[in-house]
Amino acid sequence: MKKYYITTPIYYPSDNLHIGHTYTTVAADTLKKFKIAQGYDAYLVTGSDEHGQKIQQKAKEHNMEPKEYVDKIVADIKKLWDMLEISYDEFIRTTDKEHEKAVQKIFKTLYDKGDIYKSHYEGMYCTPCEAFWSESQLVDGKCPDCGREVHLAKEEAYFFRLSKYRDRLIKLFEENPDFLQPESRRNEMLNNFLNEGLEDLCVSRTSFDWGIKVPFDPKHVVYVWIDALTCYISALGYGSKDDENFKKYWPADVHLVGKEIVRFHTIIWPALLMALDIELPKKVFGHGWILFEDDKMSKSKGNVIYPEPIIELYGIDAFRYFLLREFSFGQDGSFSREKFLQRLNSDLANDLGNLISRTVTMVEKYNGGLLPSPVKEEEVDKSLIEMATKASDKVEKYMDELNFSQALEEIWKVIRRTNKYIDETTPWILAKEGEKERLDTVLYNLTESIRIIAHLINPFMGRTSEEILNQIGFKEKLDWQDTKKWGKMEAGTKLTRGKVLFPRLDIQKELKKLNEANEKLIEERSKKVEEYISIDDFAKIELRVAEIIEAKDHPKADKLLILKLKVGEEERQVVSGIKEHYKAEDLVGKKVVIVANLKPIKLRGEESKGMVLAAEKDGKLTLVSTLEDIDSGASIS
Ligand code: ME8
Ligand code: MG
Repeated sequence: MKKYYITTPIYYPSDNLHIGHTYTTVAADTLKKFKIAQGYDAYLVTGSDEHGQKIQQKAKEHNMEPKEYVDKIVADIKKLWDMLEISYDEFIRTTDKEHEKAVQKIFKTLYDKGDIYKSHYEGMYCTPCEAFWSESQLVDGKCPDCGREVHLAKEEAYFFRLSKYRDRLIKLFEENPDFLQPESRRNEMLNNFLNEGLEDLCVSRTSFDWGIKVPFDPKHVVYVWIDALTCYISALGYGSKDDENFKKYWPADVHLVGKEIVRFHTIIWPALLMALDIELPKKVFGHGWILFEDDKMSKSKGNVIYPEPIIELYGIDAFRYFLLREFSFGQDGSFSREKFLQRLNSDLANDLGNLISRTVTMVEKYNGGLLPSPVKEEEVDKSLIEMATKASDKVEKYMDELNFSQALEEIWKVIRRTNKYIDETTPWILAKEGEKERLDTVLYNLTESIRIIAHLINPFMGRTSEEILNQIGFKEKLDWQDTKKWGKMEAGTKLTRGKVLFPRLDIQKELKKLNEANEKLIEERSKKVEEYISIDDFAKIELRVAEIIEAKDHPKADKLLILKLKVGEEERQVVSGIKEHYKAEDLVGKKVVIVANLKPIKLRGEESKGMVLAAEKDGKLTLVSTLEDIDSGASIS
């Protein structure tokens, strides 16, 4: 079986992903399903890019350790991919041990070969931003990020001999027009970077430590892009004992990436592979951005739209369809909820949904739900059959170009043609006039066309496809070649009306719903993060084991006991609201856990210095103690 290896970028788990991020994964997943339908052994890798100063800072803002912070976001990312039914084969995390080993091995190999060497990084340095800038990047001589003063600084660093590979890279671009698509991006790389000349690349940092250590010089961490790009091969086991997948799937058939990271994928990545004597990927496709109100979506700009509410309200197929149909893969496009809802109504409810429900209803009404045989053909049938059986050739051609939008348009041409066929043949008049043979033929042709449509949309909208095939009673295993054949449906098959595939929506009402759901999620997500405390926060609480040496009822309160505690050498009094649960005399001699540094207060006239911990559920309360006996005064951490 021929293999097909697809990758998405690995995502920064600095914040939850927005709909822009889902664009590549949805496209990649659709491509994978399409290739599988065509008989390929397709393999899809995605993952998370967890190192670097940006993530380290983000974690710090949330009072968390970097790993702890990324674990939480990565879990949400995986949940989102599951929700979207992304069929990835491997989720690579740059914090995976095997990946770290692969990166270190590559770094060492290149160093030993002389392709990585130690030198100094020199430039204008912004201390608050911990960033080097070249003269040309400065804005009025100041840091382009924060606007503060910069100073000349020199830092020891490792460099990759990128300059050495310039000629081979130029040749790669010139001899392989397919290597980078779309075409315009290729010219950009050649004109703006390669023809200008290439400088060696700084590939280590010492200003922060959240990264993979240079194996032979651990005060340096490996530059985040070397770390990240390596994932495409480490995900296949490159450099480990089990590198069977690497042997089987590499080179990548296509790396799908956003346009802003094309340079990393088509200059740095191939140069690294050349240096390592590894085969180059066959193709890099740089897709456009999904904009919102003409701006790139980002949390900091406050224009982020999360995919979850859309999926929850309208299902994954509507979402997937919209992403792939609305935008031209190579170009930027503007997202709007209105456009989404309009397409839902026009393309999905009107065109597709209606076709299915009208047809199944007619077969039920005119033929008891059983598919009749086609016996009386007419000229008009030919154009329907022609269009339906020729569509898959066009879909294949557009999918080869990664033109998802046009591929879907070709399928929708068949859908619209089939709807038109109903209007042309007017089955209700045929029924009224007793034209049974012609009516049978029309019903058969409609159903057969629907079978092809359901099959064609399968890689794009798997659930909808299955639902349609169910309704028309097609139970055979799907074979892509059957999209080119007419007459696969067997007469006598039972058709059954199912749920409405895409109900028509009141756009104004839905807009409000969607907006509210998104706002609610934004709020929840910012709250969730705040709920965490740091280890330093926790360290402020002094927990100790205390022995109860005396216990008596509070003279002035029904619910309080007055406890005398021994905490190491110290004795103290604590008032506790446990009288309904414990008798004073039963407590003497027991060891409990207290918050020792709680500010002392008086409770109904009695001094209380600290708090006794208890667990509570449904009104039942029990004091907290240690599993094994331990001397009072022991501290808990
Ligand atoms: O760049 N529209 O990660 P990332 C379309 N870790 N695509 C968008 C988008 C939008 N509004 N916003 C983001 C990285 N993307 C690196 C990749 S690969 C070895 C390392 C796309 O989380 C973006 O173009 O910033 C990129 O392809 C992907 O989401 C991940 O972006
Ligand atoms: Mg980015």
